[in-house]
Amino acid sequence: MAQEDLFKKLVAHCKEYGYVFPSSEIYDGFAAVYDYGQYGVELKNNIKKYWWDSMVLLHENIVGLDSAIFMHPTTWKASGHLDAFNDPLIDNRDSKKRYRADELIEEQLEKYEGKITREAEKARKRFGDAFDEQMFLDTNPRVLAIREKYDALHDRFVKALNETDLKELGQIIADEEIACPLSGSKNWTEVRQFNLMFSTELGSTAENTSRIYLRPETAQGIFVNYLNVQKSGRMKIPFGIAQVGKAFRNEIVARQFIFRMREFEQMEMQFFVPPGTELEWFEYWKSVRIKWFRTLGFGDDKYRFHDHEKLAHYANAASDIEYLFPFGFKEVEGIHSRTDYDLGRHQEFSGKKIQYYDQETGKSYVPYVVETSIGLDRTFLHVISAAYHEEDLIKEDGSSDSRVVMKLPPFLAPIKLAVFPLTRKDGLPEKARTIVEELRFDFNCQYEEKDSIGRRYRRQDAIGTPYCITVDHQTLKDDTVTVRYRDSMEQDRVQITELKQIIKDKVDISNLLKQL
Ligand code: GAP
Repeated sequence: MAQEDLFKKLVAHCKEYGYVFPSSEIYDGFAAVYDYGQYGVELKNNIKKYWWDSMVLLHENIVGLDSAIFMHPTTWKASGHLDAFNDPLIDNRDSKKRYRADELIEEQLEKYEGKITREAEKARKRFGDAFDEQMFLDTNPRVLAIREKYDALHDRFVKALNETDLKELGQIIADEEIACPLSGSKNWTEVRQFNLMFSTELGSTAENTSRIYLRPETAQGIFVNYLNVQKSGRMKIPFGIAQVGKAFRNEIVARQFIFRMREFEQMEMQFFVPPGTELEWFEYWKSVRIKWFRTLGFGDDKYRFHDHEKLAHYANAASDIEYLFPFGFKEVEGIHSRTDYDLGRHQEFSGKKIQYYDQETGKSYVPYVVETSIGLDRTFLHVISAAYHEEDLIKEDGSSDSRVVMKLPPFLAPIKLAVFPLTRKDGLPEKARTIVEELRFDFNCQYEEKDSIGRRYRRQDAIGTPYCITVDHQTLKDDTVTVRYRDSMEQDRVQITELKQIIKDKVDISNLLKQL
């Protein structure tokens, strides 16, 4: 199935099974804003716990924080967001659609790469086993001509971005004859800067109001609390502060479901280090963070680093961790070496000394910062797109069947086990309920008695429940039940007293944390 179709099915599945709903759907939805349903919220909480525990539980020198969304307006002047948190936008006059100029050019670069890949594929078919791909890429005249165009465009693009040269971005779009994906028209406006922060007024009377902003990143709440946490926690550098919370951006091109939203959640950790050591710590956090993803078990080759070509105004190194989504490799997390920019600017704008006194050297300095910044919603999308499977099955009688199954890592699954009485009589429901009552203190359980056992299995597969427990007449005689495993669909007969351990072994988050 084409990846695009698969993605559409995933979005529909999320709605049908209570994972994600469009916001205010009864009013036809609200662009790029989504609500998490009964299973979505559980999955989201489990992802948060995995991240939080991996930071705060596993590191003696990382502590948590929960700072407010509203902050003093000067914060955003100091951080540079008021002046520099912009996207370059361009409108197509015919389709009236608005685009990010940088994304249109990036897509053009991807088209050149695609052409090279297609040339190599054609040649592989022509030459068969004798094909030497590297030699072909290095010498084929058509490939070399495309590569030359790619390199020229790439260099021009990076220069225009670094110099924030909007005119040049518009000229590139014209020279490359980039057309509106919707209308095919090349009738573009000039490129303009657009600030991504939402603002509102604080105060009740016109004379008494001030403009405040919804935070576009949670990080600033950590920076302005650096002194509070360091002093009250008697923290010694290097140390980190972790926070999970909402961020807001007026994204112009909001698309791909929950990939790019206007209201979203970030999980950020700022790690404070001595000046001069930041690039070592940057490499350290890169390796820690990619391991966190790989430990989810979806395949190591699904992740890669992408180093930034244009650095944000605060960074001296930056790399993204990208995941292979159904729509290609895309960023899920950014790791940034932010230098002493933020603390230095807050020191300047607040007039308060924000420094660390190193007892060993007897010197004070403004700490440098390496941050890890992961989008919770984007990680959610990564997890569900990796977990979603459509499987064809052959039944015992030889007939064919199919199922949709969410192969979520068991510790992330919203419901850990579902308990079914085989029938609704003979005391089986009562017996099944006693199992739920016993296990609900340890796991998120569900009791289901409606429909055939087969349909109940399918429903739990679609939700991603790793264990289904069936209570039948034999249970009443010997206190055994069947456990059916979601992924293999195999079944075992076990004692009720063994259930807790069997399930705990697989769903306990500490087993995962030990692998980090
Ligand atoms: N404090 C640094 C910072 O905010 P960023 O690269 O702009 O860096 C970090 O954002 C992460 O936040 C991204 O890797 C992505 O996962 C998530 N994110 C950013 N914008 C988002 C949006 N509009 N919708 C959903 N997630 C977003």
